[in-house]
Formats: sequence, structure tokens, C-alpha cells
Amino acid sequence: RLGSPGEDGVGRLPEPADLLAACESALAPGPWTGLRVLVTAGGTREPIDSVRFVGNRSSGRMGFALADAAAARGATVTAVAANVGLPRNPAVRYLDVTSAAELQAACLAEFPATDVLLMAAAVADFRPALARDGKIAKADHDGGLSIELEPTTDVLGLMAEQRHPGQTLVGFAAEHGSEEHERARGKLVRKRIDAIVLNDISGSETGFDAPENEVAILTADTVETVDRTGKPEVARAILDAVDRLRLRQPGLHAGGMLD
Ligand code: CTP
Repeated sequence: RLGSPGEDGVGRLPEPADLLAACESALAPGPWTGLRVLVTAGGTREPIDSVRFVGNRSSGRMGFALADAAAARGATVTAVAANVGLPRNPAVRYLDVTSAAELQAACLAEFPATDVLLMAAAVADFRPALARDGKIAKADHDGGLSIELEPTTDVLGLMAEQRHPGQTLVGFAAEHGSEEHERARGKLVRKRIDAIVLNDISGSETGFDAPENEVAILTADTVETVDRTGKPEVARAILDAVDRLRLRQPGLHAGGMLD
């Protein structure tokens, strides 16, 4: 509630850190000024009935760290947030979604005006074929309950089909076990993207729902490993890799903008 009777809304002075960030970007435009970045973050939820869903453990930390890092470099950042309960950055525009279908709609609407896509969300590969109205009652399923799953659309693959020159597409791959690099590079080729960030989820202290991460950033012909560190540091390493990619992309000059 605000001081004026009957009114409510955002009325507080922003936090000092937010004020400082706004002053910094106004006084010293960053190297990504003018670049439009689309980040997806979090994990989708696919309804089983009106109260239950099929979900995953993604917290959105990696995606939000990428959004923060891109905004700190001066980019215009939109974050498509799937069920993320983390603090928000006033310099980032957030679009909240719940399911893979909603994420797809938001991404397709934003993608044409995007220069750099960072697809960090854990998007469900399958969803219940039938989302039932109301709540499924235990008493109606004494013998057990089966839920049929149907595949969702590969949103990243769909955007890659629609890509135009000057766009840089980065995917993420959660892998474990041997031959993870081969599998991740297979995804890079199959999805026709520029880089894939390989996240080894076999450790319990990195990756999903953890503050730290340890990744390998693969392009068609390079591999860079980022040793275990905080997600903000991993985000900066990913943006540096995007910078290197864009320097090599035809039609782009050093600042990463189209000629
Ligand atoms: N992704 C997507 N749409 C989906 C599923 C995944 O856009 N329906 C994106 C993720 O955001 C991520 C990348 O694709 O950037 C991860 O791909 P993943 O689903 O792991 O690869 P798959 O080829 O489906 O292989 P896997 O069998 O390992 O799931």
C-alpha cells in the first residue's frame, strides 16, 4: 500500500544496488548496448489435472544469471521465465510462462527481434496427452493410474528453422555418463544452433537447482571447459563465447551488431 489512501503499487525507492546498476548503464553503455537478447529460464510444468503437473528440478538460476550478465553488458534482455521464484532484475523484462506450449508461444513471438538466444530452460520433452479437468480422485483408480505422455515441440529446433543471418543461437544440454560431448555435439548439429552448453548432471552439487555449475561450451569446432564456479561466472563465460562466435559470423562487426 502506498501513502496515498486507497492506492497500491510499486512506490518504494529502488534498492541501492538497482539504482547503482541503472546509473552505471546510463553513464557507461556496455559492449552489448543495442543487442537484443532472449533468455529462457526455469522448468516447464505440464498439467496432469487441475492441481498436478509433470515438472523438473530446474530452478532458473542459470537462465537468470545469463539475463543479469547480458543486461550488465548493456543488452536489451527479455527473459521467458518458466516457474522461477528467484529475485528479479529491474533491467530485465520478464515474461512468465508455465507450460512448454506457453514457452513456445512466448519464444516464437520474441524470436524475430532477437540477436542472441540463450535457451537455458528445461523444457519438457513430453506432456500428458490428456490434461483432465478437475482433480483426479484416488478412489477412482484403485488398481493404479497410467498417464500417457505425448511429445512436445522442440522449441529451440523450431526457432533454428526460422533463424535469419545475424542471430546467434545457444542451446543447453543436460547430460551424464560417457560420450556426453558426442551427444551434445549431435544436438548442436541436429538443432542447427551455434553453440551448446553441456551441463554434466551426474554430480549433486552442480547443475540443476544448485548455485554452482561446471560446463563445457561446444561450438562446431571448439570446446571450452568452465571449471566449477558460481552461475554468474559461468554466465559471463558463456557470453564471452557468444562474443567470439559473433566475431566470426559473416555480416557482423566487432561490436556484434549487424553491418
Ligand atoms: N528444448 C526445447 N524444446 C524442447 C526440449 C528442449 O527448446 N521441447 C531445448 C532446451 O531448452 C535446451 C535444449 O533444447 O536448450 C536441450 O535439448 P534436450 O531436450 O536435452 O535434447 P534432446 O535432443 O531432446 O535430447 P534428450 O533425449 O537428451 O532430451
